[in-house]
Amino acid sequence: MSLLLGIDIGTSGSKVVLIAPDGAVRAEATTEYPMQVPRPGWAEQNPEDWWQATVTSIRRVLVGTKGEDIAGVGLTGQMHGLVLLDEAGKVLRPCIMWNDQRTAAQCAEIERKAGRARLIELAGKPALTGFTAGKILWVRENEPAVYERARHVLLPKDYVRYRLTGAFAMDVADGSGTLLMDVGRRVWSDELLGLLDIPREWLPPLHESHEVVAEVSAAAAAATGLRVGTPVVAGAGDQAAQSIGTGIARPGIVSVTIGTSGVVFAATGKYAFDATGGLHAYCHAVPDTWHLMGVTLSAGGSLRWFRDALCEPEKAEAVRTGRDVYDIITELAATAPAGSDGLLFLPYLTGERTPHADPDARGVFFGLSLRHGKAHMARAVLEGVTFSLRECLDLLCGLGQSCARVRVSGGGSRSVFWRQMMADVFGVEIVEVNVTQGAAYGAALLAGVGAGFCGDVVEACDRTVRETGTTQPGPNAGAYADAYERYRALYPALVPEFRRARY
Ligand code: XUL
Repeated sequence: MSLLLGIDIGTSGSKVVLIAPDGAVRAEATTEYPMQVPRPGWAEQNPEDWWQATVTSIRRVLVGTKGEDIAGVGLTGQMHGLVLLDEAGKVLRPCIMWNDQRTAAQCAEIERKAGRARLIELAGKPALTGFTAGKILWVRENEPAVYERARHVLLPKDYVRYRLTGAFAMDVADGSGTLLMDVGRRVWSDELLGLLDIPREWLPPLHESHEVVAEVSAAAAAATGLRVGTPVVAGAGDQAAQSIGTGIARPGIVSVTIGTSGVVFAATGKYAFDATGGLHAYCHAVPDTWHLMGVTLSAGGSLRWFRDALCEPEKAEAVRTGRDVYDIITELAATAPAGSDGLLFLPYLTGERTPHADPDARGVFFGLSLRHGKAHMARAVLEGVTFSLRECLDLLCGLGQSCARVRVSGGGSRSVFWRQMMADVFGVEIVEVNVTQGAAYGAALLAGVGAGFCGDVVEACDRTVRETGTTQPGPNAGAYADAYERYRALYPALVPEFRRARY
């Protein structure tokens, strides 16, 4: 009984990692599932797919390990998604996901009813289309028959917990992304629930992330190979768990994670919110700790788009040589000069969250001329994403956070070229850590605290996460400073066109 399991219900698949109490990774497996786009801007997933994929991933990591050896399970996953269940625990409609943009009208209604300033004060953030509350109102207005039968509201990983244990539960970190919590007090907000007329009893009890909240049921044990009664901790939303997995448990270090989205994250020792609504405040997965967060929605996602839209030859080369296609694209980007000879890219392919909170914003290449080729475009994409992250960092520094060092993680941080670009654009030291498993690893560490292997989450991080390298700002900083100023001027100039060209 000495191993820990972390389960991450991601956007594209269910990832499970198995770790030893000293943090060593024993096994990992990911099983993919699809996302449905019934209309442009909508994004849905079938909760049954999460469960089936999770069963498969658990079975794969348990090959050669007995279920009896697992001391605890931690859950994490994509945040903000709405899962609605009926009285009998049956899923009523597909999950409306974090990246779904259908709720602009409901968000306006929430801000009107709650008052924007009061909403930010209580929930830590303004009403944006990604967050859960607007989705509940959308179902009420557009699918009254479904709403009528609803009895339980869960987030994606909490649905998987329900299948694993039969228990309804949620942690305060993920709960903070619903827009229904009093984040400073770490409880459901009766004020917001009352104003929005959402039944309090639909929401599960809230817990701190490391607390054991349920046990693996007999049915789930038979399906997965886990032992009946294995303790399951509350866990956390993917961003809080990711930060635990990179050692950001206490205030003082800022992290940047580049996956599909790019996230700038800082832990705070007391509840602090950004009254402008640019950065968002959440409970952290550590008791008495909160965090501020800014999100670039299409970070790695912009590079993936570039790969799929324009890089067939590079993809073919990757297949031929067995190299990673992103290494080939970043090598190409490196042949263009810093600042991409004046070419700029705005990474708003799926709208933007921080700092603009604008679902209508769209991606832009600006300044193309005959001198520009594909290398410039590749570099401009990387630079545009990095500038967007810098805008999030600037907001954090403006709120008094120390941003002298930035810890990086996620797929984007693997590139030496991109790390140097971040050091140059941010003007700070970039720090790498030994752990690369992300949110699933953080969830496993939380399970370790629940199972009693560590006194608390801070100790769990200190024991397992180490800094492994640093990158200092270099000579390109000046060229980037100039490009960053031009980048910042572009969005305000284009806002009227984004409004006109809603699509
Ligand atoms: C966080 C967010 C994403 C999703 C999907 O606020 O929207 O990180 O959790 O990963």
